[in-house]
Formats: sequence, C-alpha cells, structure tokens
Amino acid sequence: MKIMDSPGKRQTQQERFEKTRTLIYPDSAEASRGLAAEVSVLIRRRQAEGRGVVLGLATGSTPVPFYRELIRLHREEGLSFANVTTFNLDEYYGLDRHHRESYSQFMRDQLFDHIDIPAENINIPDGTVPLDRVYESCMAYESKIEASGGLDLQILGIGRTGHIGFNEPGSASDSLTRMITLDRVTRQDAAADFLGVHHVPRFAITMGVGTILKARRIVLMAWGENKAGIVREAVEGAVTDQISASFLQEHPNATFLIDQAAASRLTRRSLPWLVGSVEWDDAMTRRAVIWMAKKLGKPVLKLVDEDYNENGVGELLTAAGPAYQVNIRVFNRLQHTITGWPGGKPGAEDTHRPERALPHSKRVLILSPEPHDAFVGMGGTIERLIEQGHQVRLAIQTSGNLRVSDVAAHKFASVVREMAEIIGGQGWEGQSAYAGEILSQLAAKGEFGLESETVRRLKGLILRGEARDAAHVSGVAGEALQFVDLPFYEAGRYRRFSLTDQDRETMRAILDEYRPHQIYLTGDVADPSSLQFLCFRSVAETIAAGQAGDWFQDCRVWIYRPLEAHEIDMAVPMSPDQLAKKYDGIRKFQSIQADELESPERNRETAREYDGLGMAEYEGIEAFQRWLPA
Ligand code: F6R
Repeated sequence: MKIMDSPGKRQTQQERFEKTRTLIYPDSAEASRGLAAEVSVLIRRRQAEGRGVVLGLATGSTPVPFYRELIRLHREEGLSFANVTTFNLDEYYGLDRHHRESYSQFMRDQLFDHIDIPAENINIPDGTVPLDRVYESCMAYESKIEASGGLDLQILGIGRTGHIGFNEPGSASDSLTRMITLDRVTRQDAAADFLGVHHVPRFAITMGVGTILKARRIVLMAWGENKAGIVREAVEGAVTDQISASFLQEHPNATFLIDQAAASRLTRRSLPWLVGSVEWDDAMTRRAVIWMAKKLGKPVLKLVDEDYNENGVGELLTAAGPAYQVNIRVFNRLQHTITGWPGGKPGAEDTHRPERALPHSKRVLILSPEPHDAFVGMGGTIERLIEQGHQVRLAIQTSGNLRVSDVAAHKFASVVREMAEIIGGQGWEGQSAYAGEILSQLAAKGEFGLESETVRRLKGLILRGEARDAAHVSGVAGEALQFVDLPFYEAGRYRRFSLTDQDRETMRAILDEYRPHQIYLTGDVADPSSLQFLCFRSVAETIAAGQAGDWFQDCRVWIYRPLEAHEIDMAVPMSPDQLAKKYDGIRKFQSIQADELESPERNRETAREYDGLGMAEYEGIEAFQRWLPA
C-alpha cells in the first residue's frame, strides 16, 4: 500500500468519524515495513535527480521497528543515506549527548551508527546550551530546517497526553522550537528508562507544533492499546491545543499509521454499527447492548425498543428483537461470566460456566512478565485457585531487576556490610567483600550509569524476596513459585528489548514439562516493544504455531488485563476482605515505585460496571478473557 504522497483526507463510510487519514495495519512490523519502503522510494528518486531528502525524526519505542527496517534496507538492499539530512524532534534538557537516555545517544544506537548518513547531516536539539542561550539556539534550529529546504517528511509518535514531539497540552498550533516543561504523565511513562520518575528530566527542547506542521508530509505512528484512547481523541475529536496531535487534522497531507490495538477505540472499530452494516453475532450484540446501557445509564434489562432505535442499534432489533429478547440474552451471558470458581466447579453442571468442571484438580500455570504483574492483575484469583485445590504454578518470566532503585540495592549491601562488621570474625570476609563491591559499583556508576551484572543480580534478588512475600499472601509457596529470568531481559533495557529463540525455547520447555490445563497470561495488546508484549509472544507464538505438545488440547488460555465489560469471559468477584488482602500482597513490592503498581480502583471499577449493567453488586472483580490461537 502506498503511504507517501497519498491525499491527506479521503472518506469511506467506515471512516466518516475520522478527520485525519488513518491506516490500520495488522501489526507494527507490517506498518513500519510499508513506511520504510516508501521512504526508500523517495530517497532513491531524489538520488536519481541529484537532490537531497530532509527527514524529521522521532525517538521513543514507536519508531524502533521502522528504524530496524531502514537499517535492513541499507544492509541488504544497498539503500544509501548519503543524500539524507535529518532533524530530530526533541531532546531532554540537561542531558549531554552521551548520556545513556539522551535522544542523541538513542538515535546513534537505533539508527545512525548503522547507516551511511554523513555525520554533518544529523541535527538534534542541543540539551546542554546554557539557559540564557536556549532561545537563540532554538531559533538557529528553525533557521537550519528552513535553510535545508524544509522537512519533506516528518515522522511522529504520540504520547499519552497527545503530545507530538514534546508539545505538551497547551502548545499553540504556531509554536516553534523551544524549551518546554514535561507533563507528569510523560515523565511517568519515561520512569522505567530512567530508573524512577524522579530521575526523569523536567524540561526538554522540542520542535513546535508549527515547526512540525510546516513539513510537507507527516506520518504519525502508534502501537498498542495504551495509545488507543488518545489516537481516537486526536483523530476523531475536536482540534484543540490540549491534544497537539489533533492539529494534524488541519494538515493537508498527514496520516496516522496504527496497529489493531491502537485502532481499537476508533468508532469504526469500537462502535461499527454507527458507520455501516454489521453482522450481529453474539460478540457484536453484547458489545452494542452494553455500550447502549452504559451510555443511557440503564441496566441491560431496562432497555426498550426506542433505546435501540434512538441509538443507532435499530438494525439489531430487526435481526433479533424485540428489545426484551435481546436484553435477556445479553444479561444471561453477562451473568454466566461471573464465577467464584476460576478453575471450574467440581460436581457442577458446567455448560454455562466459563471454565470446565473437569479435570479437578487442574494444573494451572500463571505467567507474570515482571514479578508484580500477576499479583496486580489476578492476586485474588490466585488465592481462589489454591484454596480450591488446584496445582498452581506461578512462573515469573523476568527478574524485573531494572525497576529496583539504587537506594534499595544500597540498603541491602549496607546491611550486609554492617552485619559483617558487627558479627565480625571469620566466615564473613566473602560477604563483606561482596557488599563492598556493590557499594563501590553503585558509587562509580552514579545515577544514570549502566548497572554491572553484580548490581543487577542483587536487585533481582531483592525483587525475588518481595515476590516471595507477595506469593505467601496468596498462598503460593515453595516450588510453586518459579523464577524464569528470561535472557532477553537480562541483556536489554526498557523499550529496547528483543525476544530471542532462547526465550521461546525456555518457555516452551516450561509448558511441556508442566502440561497445564489452564494458562493465565497478559500483554496480548500491549505496546509491541514492551516487556509484557514480548513475554506474551514468548508463549503465544509457540501455541499459535501449533508447537505446543498434545497437552494443549485439554488446556484453556486466559488473558488477565484491564478489560471492558463486553470483553470479559470470566469475572471473578471479590469481597472487601479479599480485595484488601490482595493489596496487602501487592504492597510487598516495596522496591517498585508505588505509582507503577495499580490501585484497587481497577477491580472496583469493573465491579461498578457490572453493577450498573444490572448484575449483583460486588466490592471488586478480576476480569479475564479467553484467548484462542488464531
Ligand atoms: C519522541 C517524541 C515523543 C514520542 C512519544 C511517544 O521524539 O517526540 O513525542 O514520540 O512520547 O513515545 P513512545 O514511542 O516511546 O511511546
């Protein structure tokens, strides 16, 4: 599919809510390949004409697959970047170009060191100019863009605040390159890279919205469910300075390139009956009725024919009405998702239950990408499964050691050293030397230096201890808790991990050895570069390729993550005591920043949603969706 040079706006019936042209791809890899192919056509065409190309580039996880494809085109298909000039969108203020989190370093690691672009053609805002020269330096950046002939193509990602570049809410449509204060949400999103939100710089230098809009062509990429809400607002909402990406609606040649998960909130995906005729199968019916009930603030059983007609769902009544009949079907189905027996209820009729009664007990494999994920996502359900006699194994896929602060490592090493001093004498020399090594490595690396293997290992052990404490609260003990430490994590950093065959092999061996009847997973619609998504893939690819053993025929896979009512296949209710206990468990993760752990509100919200639809009123609900290999 041609991406470049396409008209900025074109409408099909399906797209009629979209005000910026939006192309939905099966996944980020395919979208990135499409964009890279078009960029390569442009570069080669200009080469043939003896002209240069000026590209505006972005950093962050979004463009990484695109850069990988450009590198591949360079290596395998001889694409030269000798005639390319680049201008990056932004840089953190205060970080020099060799700081490991500077965008300058990022660009070298992810692209420039792997292609033949001349060093003098690369432009990135300077994050180290003294304050009194920032304005001047920003104006010089603007002039240089203009002098180069202006941007032929600007590549963008989008932040959860709707920012493009670092144009946070409040940025005017004619703003130029300048210094800006980063939004709290943006700093939170960068916290894992900087090992804690307090390390994330407060300021950045960014091209303005006006600078970006001057580009002749703009492509914004977005992947994963985290971006779905803001993509919808930017594409379908009003043009507003509160969402700088919404200004792309006013550009004659801007395109959003998004994957399925990032598209999931667009009207054509989330409310397809509003943009055309749909097939009213059970899933679509449930989705429409629940949407309508929520919109009108009515329980499902109180919806009447007029509600269907007045809300664009009249067609469903012609196919399956009247209203009370559709209502009752949806109501029953919702009610059947509720179960206090997530592993199946032995001895009970199970036709309408989410999980089979037999076999009892089941071998249950729960996969937690990072140590805290499973406790946050399904801590209450883990406890139920154990109480109900299932053989639960909780496999923690990565050590999570990059999340542990230096302060925590320092504390542990200091305690060991002091114990050695107090107890003294023989037998403690080893411990004392170990503690000394950790403390001096921490001091040598400073706030942002790369951790040595020894420091990462200690941090991993700290999290293991916390995971054991949390597991204890849910009743998971001894061998039931397994630390897998997948190699991709130990070798990488956040947003830049890549999965290896060894990771897939490790997970396959665990599956084949345990032969589970139930698997609980998460990460299916996460950002493709996120650790959660890679952990999901490490298992899902084996299953989807039909490479799991014959045990899989008797196995069900459940996804745990925040789900909306219409997506839920199993809802496990929790009493106030159970919810409180779950959060006791989560609080054991003391070395992880509290704001990275979810609050009990998530489970309460799901319970409120069910209550509003006319179900029984619970304190909290943990929600699951059944996953079937495609
Ligand atoms: C990066 C930039 C930002 C990012 C945005 C999304 O140069 O200007 O606007 O594109 O924050 O970041 P990721 O891609 O990491 O989700």
